[in-house]
Amino acid sequence: MKNKLIILVAASFIHTIGLAQLQWLGSGKKVDPFHYSQKKEGSFSMMAIASAHPLASSVGAEIMKEGGNAFDAAIAVQLVLAVVYPDAGNLGGGGFLLGRNKSGDIIAIDFRESAPGLATKDMYLDKNGAPQHELSVNGHLSVGIPGTVAGLFKTLPYAKLSFEKLIEPAIELAEKGFAITEIQAKDFNELKPEFLKYNTQPIAFIKNTDWKAGDILVQPELAETLKRIQLYGPKGFYEGKTAELLVAEINRGNGIISLTDLKNYEAKMRVAISSKYRGYTVLGFPPPSSGGIIVSQLLTMVEPYPLKKYGYGTIQSMHLMIEAERRAFADRAKYMGDPDFWKVPQKTLLSNAYLTNRMKDFDPLKASPSKNIQPGEIPESDQTTHISIMDAEGNMVSITTTLNNRYGSKTVVGGAGFFLNDEMDDFSMKPGVPNLYGAVGGAANAIAPGKRMLSSMAPTLILKNGNPFCVLGTPGGTTIPTSVFQMIVDMVDFGMNATDAVNKPKFHHQWLPDEVKIEKGFSVEIEQGLENMGYKLRLVGGIGRSELIKILPDGKFEVAADRRGDDSVAGY
Ligand code: GLY
Repeated sequence: MKNKLIILVAASFIHTIGLAQLQWLGSGKKVDPFHYSQKKEGSFSMMAIASAHPLASSVGAEIMKEGGNAFDAAIAVQLVLAVVYPDAGNLGGGGFLLGRNKSGDIIAIDFRESAPGLATKDMYLDKNGAPQHELSVNGHLSVGIPGTVAGLFKTLPYAKLSFEKLIEPAIELAEKGFAITEIQAKDFNELKPEFLKYNTQPIAFIKNTDWKAGDILVQPELAETLKRIQLYGPKGFYEGKTAELLVAEINRGNGIISLTDLKNYEAKMRVAISSKYRGYTVLGFPPPSSGGIIVSQLLTMVEPYPLKKYGYGTIQSMHLMIEAERRAFADRAKYMGDPDFWKVPQKTLLSNAYLTNRMKDFDPLKASPSKNIQPGEIPESDQTTHISIMDAEGNMVSITTTLNNRYGSKTVVGGAGFFLNDEMDDFSMKPGVPNLYGAVGGAANAIAPGKRMLSSMAPTLILKNGNPFCVLGTPGGTTIPTSVFQMIVDMVDFGMNATDAVNKPKFHHQWLPDEVKIEKGFSVEIEQGLENMGYKLRLVGGIGRSELIKILPDGKFEVAADRRGDDSVAGY
C-alpha cells in the first residue's frame, strides 16, 4: 500500500478546464482535485476528520474553516464521497449517523434503505424455493429505497451553514472532475464487464481504453442531480426529475421501486445504545443496525477477563474475543431486525445477567464449535464507508454509509449519474440461507414492504467522564462490529494509539460459517495455537477500513485513517 499517492495531471488539461473559475477547488486552494496526497495520521487542535478519500477529508476541514461545525463537515463530506468515492460513497444508498452536539445531546439518524412497496418475502426464491443470489446482489431488483439524501437533510438542523453551500464542493468535483486513484482505476477496469451487464445507458465509469491512476473522472449527470438537490432540497431527489429518472432506470431492468416509494421515504431518529466498558461510555447505533448491540454485547462479555494481562494478539486474548464474537452473532441471526416490524429484545440482549450466562460455557482451552452454540434463550432480531469527525466545540460525528456491495447493484441511474445500492441482499431471503457476507437470519429479518434490512454498521462514539473521547467506525459488512470491538479493546486494554488501533491486524468470527477470518500479520505460532484449540482459520486480504479520532491528554485530536485503502485524514 502506498502511503503517499501523488497524482499529477498534464498542465495543459488543467488549463483547459479553467481552474480559476472554481469556487472551492483548485491549485490556489487547499483542495486541489488534480494534485493530492494521502495523509494517514495527524494531531490537530481545532478539528479532525478521517474518511475514505483525501479530497473528502480536505473538504471537511475547509468547511470548518468557513465557519461550519462537525455536522456541516459531515454533510459536505458525505456529498463529496458520493462523487470521488463511488465505490461506497453515495446518493443511492443509506446509512446511520451517530452524533453528539456541543450541548451533549446524542443524535442517532437512521437513513437505512427500505424495501419497496411491492417487495415480498420470497422475491429472491425461484418456484422451487431455491435462492437467486444474483437477483439480490446485482442489478435493478436488488435495490432498496435510498436513504442518504433524507439522512443529510435530517442532519442539517445540527449544522450552521446552508445546504446550498455545503453541496457546492460536490457539485464542482462532479462537474469539473478529479484525478482517480490507482485503486479506483483498477476497480473500474476490473468491473467493466459487470458495469456493461447491469446498465442500460452510457455511464461515466466506462470508457473504451483502460483507466489509469491520474485519469480525470467527470460526472456531468451527477452534477445535475446534485444541483437539483441544491435547488429543491429533498424533493430534488425524492420527487421530480431525479425520481422520474430513477424509476425509469428501475423499470428498464424489471425492478420494483415506484415514485410513491421514493416520495414516502423518511429518515428516522432513533435512541442510541449506551453501555459502559471499564469506565468509558460507549454509544452505538440501535436496530435496524445490529452493530451497536453486537459491540456492546462483546465488550460486556469480555469485561470480566484481564485482557490487559493477556495482551494484544495472544492466543488467550484472541480466543476469548472470538468466543464472544461467535455468541453475539448467533443472537444477531435470531433476534435482530427492523424494530418497526419486529420486537427486538434489546434490553435482555444487553443485560449483564444474560451476557454472563452466554459466556458460562466458555472453555479457556478450546474452541466451542458453532453447532454447540445456539442463540441465547430469551423468555417470552464490502462495501461501505465510514467518516469520523470531531471539532473543538465538542461536536462528534460518526457516520457509516453504504451501497452494500462494492459499487452496490453496479447499476447507475441513467441520466442522473449515481450508483444504486443492492441493500435488499441484507435481508434474510430464506431462513438459514447466507447473504453476501455469509450472515444468516430468519423471521426477524425477513423481507416486507417498507421494512429496513438488518445492518451490521456500527458508527460509534466513546465518552470519558461524560466528555468526548473517541469517534470510530469502519466498513466491512459483518466484520464491522467485531473490528469496532477490537479497536476499543486495543485502545482501552492494550493502550494502543489511534494509528495502531486502526492498522493492527484484525480477526473475525460470526458464528456461521464456523471459521475465523484472520488478516496477515499474526505469527505462525499464534495461528497454529488457534488451530490446535479447534479453530478453522481463513486468511483474508483485509478487514475493514477504519477511521478513528481520539482525544489525547493534552486535548489534541489524534486521528488515523486506515492503511488498507486511499483513506486520509485532515484537520488544523
Ligand atoms: N450492507 C452492509 C451492512 O449494512 O451491514
